[in-house]
Order: sequence, then C-alpha cells, then structure tokens
Amino acid sequence: LAQDVAAGKTSFNKCLACHAIGEGAKNKVGPVLNGLDGRKSGTVEGYSYSDANKNSGITWGKDVFLEYIKDPKAKIPGTKMVFAGIKNEKEANDLWAYVSSFDKD
Ligand code: HEM
Repeated sequence: LAQDVAAGKTSFNKCLACHAIGEGAKNKVGPVLNGLDGRKSGTVEGYSYSDANKNSGITWGKDVFLEYIKDPKAKIPGTKMVFAGIKNEKEANDLWAYVSSFDKD
C-alpha cells in the first residue's frame, strides 16, 4: 500500500501546476487539497470557486473522487478546472491514496 502512495505522489505531478498539497500549501490556480477526504466541495477559505464547484453538493471521499478525476467536467458540469482527467483506474486509486494521506493541517 505504501507503494501506492509513492505512485500517487508521482501522478500528482499532473496536478502540481494548479494545486499544492502538504505542509505550507497555498491556493494556486486551484484550491489547496489538504484535508480533502470528508471535505465539502468548494469550501477552502480564500479560494474563489465557480458556482458549479461550490454548489455541486459533493462531500469528497474515495468513490466520488474516482468518478470526478476520471472526467472532471462530466462530474461537475461548469467546473473551471481545465483538466482532461485520469482515465487509468490504478493511477486514480494511487492518486487518492496520496491525496487522502494529507490531513487539513
Ligand atoms: C478543483 C483535484 C488537476 C485546476 C479541484 C477539486 C479537486 C481537484 C478535488 C475540487 C476541490 C474542492 O471542491 O475544494 C485535482 C487533481 C488533479 C487536478 C487530483 C490532478 C490529477 C488540476 C489542474 C488544474 C486544476 C491541472 C489547472 C489546469 C483546478 C481549479 C479548481 C480545481 C481551477 C476549482 C474549480 C472550480 O471552482 O470550478 N481539483 N485537480 N486542477 N482544480 Fe483541480
């Protein structure tokens, strides 16, 4: 399983242009992803979300993350996240293992 987190860290390079995670992370083009597991969509303080993201009604967790990251615009029509998605299921699972390993602070 630790291997999956390591693979997820590599996959997260695809997100890094827009998202920071870990100690000292700040909002960039996209919101900080610390504490994503269990967080309501569109709730990072100081980040200006689209209405679509803010009002999606999603509470982030593994299943909904996997649906979203496969095709972000399909899961949240109107999202301003311009990203084609991660189609490979193992890669997406590893990515979740990595992202969900970071608590809020
Ligand atoms: C939003 C994950 C790649 C830009 C989000 C959200 C998640 C996420 C979970 C919703 C956050 C929330 O509701 O608080 C990821 C992951 C990525 C990735 C795991 C890589 C696999 C990118 C890239 C960009 C980007 C490459 C920029 C080109 C954004 C923006 C938002 C966002 C602008 C806000 C969307 C809105 O308000 O409509 N991302 N993202 N993301 N992401 Fe990403």
